[in-house]
Amino acid sequence: MTYQPVLTARLGVVDPSSLADYETHGGFQALAKAVELGPQAVIETARQAHVLGRGGAAFPAGIKWKSVADQPAPRYMVVNADESEPGTFKDRIIMEGDPFSVVEGMMVAGFAAGAEQAYIYIRGEYPLAVKRIQHAVNASYNAGYLGRNILGSGWNLDVEVRKGAGAYICGEETALFESIEGKRGFPRFKPPFPTQAGLFGRPTLINNVETLLCALPLVLRGPHWFKDIGPENSPGPKLFCLSGRVRRPGLVEAPMGTPLRTLIMDYGGGVAGSGELGGVLLGGAAGMFVGPSALDVNLDFATLREIDAVLGSGVVMVFDTSVDIKQVLKRISHFFAHESCGKCYPCQIGTQRQMEILDRLADGRLRPGDLALLRDVGQTMTDASICGLGQAANGAIRTALERFGYDDVSGELRQFGAR
Ligand SMILES: Cc1cc2nc3c(=O)[nH]c(=O)nc-3n(C[C@H](O)[C@H](O)[C@H](O)COP(=O)(O)O)c2cc1C
Ligand code: SF4
Repeated sequence: MTYQPVLTARLGVVDPSSLADYETHGGFQALAKAVELGPQAVIETARQAHVLGRGGAAFPAGIKWKSVADQPAPRYMVVNADESEPGTFKDRIIMEGDPFSVVEGMMVAGFAAGAEQAYIYIRGEYPLAVKRIQHAVNASYNAGYLGRNILGSGWNLDVEVRKGAGAYICGEETALFESIEGKRGFPRFKPPFPTQAGLFGRPTLINNVETLLCALPLVLRGPHWFKDIGPENSPGPKLFCLSGRVRRPGLVEAPMGTPLRTLIMDYGGGVAGSGELGGVLLGGAAGMFVGPSALDVNLDFATLREIDAVLGSGVVMVFDTSVDIKQVLKRISHFFAHESCGKCYPCQIGTQRQMEILDRLADGRLRPGDLALLRDVGQTMTDASICGLGQAANGAIRTALERFGYDDVSGELRQFGAR
């Protein structure tokens, strides 16, 4: 725990409503450095640092920035601040506590990609974040950071703040574009990818709030600083959303690759409730469960993939042994059935059937063949759904049943308390 936070260093220190205070705390220095370096060097910095996107898919940021920069203008920049994954709250805390950093991170990435129009798409249920980001945008315009000929570079950037209307699917990048375009939030088929044809059919760079936050110290300190934190194939500082049955839940900034045990025992102060760890949901509802045997696993994208788990957006939701996990699985299945947009059948129908089976499991009414059907439906959703929602809708349920040992006779998950 000797790591000194960088991404969250200004939280609780800087006045989120004051541009002058932001400047006093190093604000807009990364933008100045980016302009001094030029777009290609900024892209190269992200590429060398091997920054992986923090929105869930872990796509290399440098490659994405370059792909957009290589396309003809006009290009768009979109900040994905929809943050609807259950258990995720990191972007909200950043937007509320350090909103100018989101504007500046967007500008650094937008400059690298050569975008001249940006949108910040914020989850509608985050009214304070919307207010603070809108204020930060207005103040940045008034101070001459946004608009024409930014810092004398000849580069222009205009920004609009948009509010989501409460649909989880609108966090998926192409559904988000549809939403900004004023349409229903249906995901698009890919390819073409957003870097080629995204918002309004134009090349579009879309990044998560935390990815853009990483861009600031990255530009100021260089790629080696970033690469020296955490594992080589999945480096950098990371925000973890630690919640559930821990004594000290909250936002944790730690090096990528921090062991799960350190996060729960040191940062979180240990397991609350019964005091005995039952399991951990990594990555949120779209993530996967791991059991106590995974306590010493390192939390980074690559290592978790190796053990059939995911880091996703950084959710670490802890459950002690007194939790009735069947009720948790039931809740997750209701979430997906409710949020499925209905565009493709595997997910539209699969999430409904999954919910019905999980209802029966939770109520002790499981029918013969239900679990085989659940596996079948889950595999079909994973293999055949159009977008990540359907593809991930079974992950938490599948891994809970596999890892917590479902007992056909008692109808219970062995490692969790039954009631
Ligand atoms: C159903 C669904 C919901 C998503 N929600 C979010 C979200 O709320 N925020 C986010 O940054 N990415 C979300 N994503 C991932 C985005 O599609 C996209 O990968 C991300 O914004 C890219 O940014 P990054 O490269 O900086 O990670 C979601 C994906 C899916 C399939
Ligand atoms: S997988 Fe689900 S959310 Fe995604 S397009 Fe198909 S129905 Fe919609």
